[in-house]
Amino acid sequence: PRPLRVGMIGIGTVGSGTFRVLARNQAEIAGRAGRSIKLVMVCARSLARAMRVVGRDAALTNDPMLVATHPDVDVVVEVAGGTSPAREWVLAAIRAGKHVVTANKALLATHGNEIFAAARQHGVTVAYEGAVAVSIPIIKALREGLTANRIEWVAGIINGTTNFILSKMREEGLGFADALAQAQALGYAEADPTFDIEGIDAAHKITLLAANAFGMPVRFADAQVEGITRLQGLDVACAEQLGYRIKLLGVARRRKEGDADGVELRVQPALVPATHLLAQVNGSMNAVMVKGDAAGVTMFYGAGAGSEQTASAVIADLVDVARLQGTTPAQRVPHQGFHAHAVNEEL
Ligand code: HSE
Repeated sequence: PRPLRVGMIGIGTVGSGTFRVLARNQAEIAGRAGRSIKLVMVCARSLARAMRVVGRDAALTNDPMLVATHPDVDVVVEVAGGTSPAREWVLAAIRAGKHVVTANKALLATHGNEIFAAARQHGVTVAYEGAVAVSIPIIKALREGLTANRIEWVAGIINGTTNFILSKMREEGLGFADALAQAQALGYAEADPTFDIEGIDAAHKITLLAANAFGMPVRFADAQVEGITRLQGLDVACAEQLGYRIKLLGVARRRKEGDADGVELRVQPALVPATHLLAQVNGSMNAVMVKGDAAGVTMFYGAGAGSEQTASAVIADLVDVARLQGTTPAQRVPHQGFHAHAVNEEL
């Protein structure tokens, strides 16, 4: 079978990690996908930097729309970040009949409904495992392994940067600013770290988790969000003395039956008993707990940020796309996470 041809927009932390893992594990990945996955085109702001990462293996361009619509590209990987113009690139790719893989949670949390509708209309997939809790395959877990369940709630630590900061403050008595600087140096933080520390990034992710868990549209605007910027070292130390740890939690919970508002979405610092499993999740690690009516509580743990950690998820989505070969749009498992209207009416 012919290779799956990938066009990549952005070759920063996630893009370069994806390139490295695709190259290093190419034989295993091709075996699992049923065909090879080949990076054919890369769009980067700096062609010199892109050349240093991918060498002569792929065509290089400054024009994202060229990648989004090029006839030699089967699937577009958008790892540039930001909501605009990423929205325009992704919509152009979909309209050109390309599948899209993205790790861009801000984009999907704010424009997901429009993007998923366009994908349905054009019979293509938009996959985003890398957008939530990077290395943890939580979107696939909700859509596949837990698909028999009526989900009651999803909750967890879904921002690596803030968990790293809170862990450093508690374990080493580091100040907030120093801990944030370390998280930035390690490549965990968003380009604008306000998104991390104000809870916005976690809210993007809980919004996407809720869409998958509850079959609802993406409703970022409804999330109640509080970050960790008002926390002080003293708060962290006092919590510790009392047998608690402060964790920034994202929570999506089904409201009581009959409540017209359906699902409650929030991000807030919480006092977690030191003996609780979530209290053991430290550094940049993430953990997501899911309560299903049949499975009970399940918990997923893994790296919440990082270059190859995100690449692991991005490539899993590429393998899914590669396996679609030969299926018609109607046969494909939709990857958009909603059966929105039916379930909404029920809620
Ligand atoms: N800034 C994000 C985090 C990166 O710290 O979790 C992964 O989404």
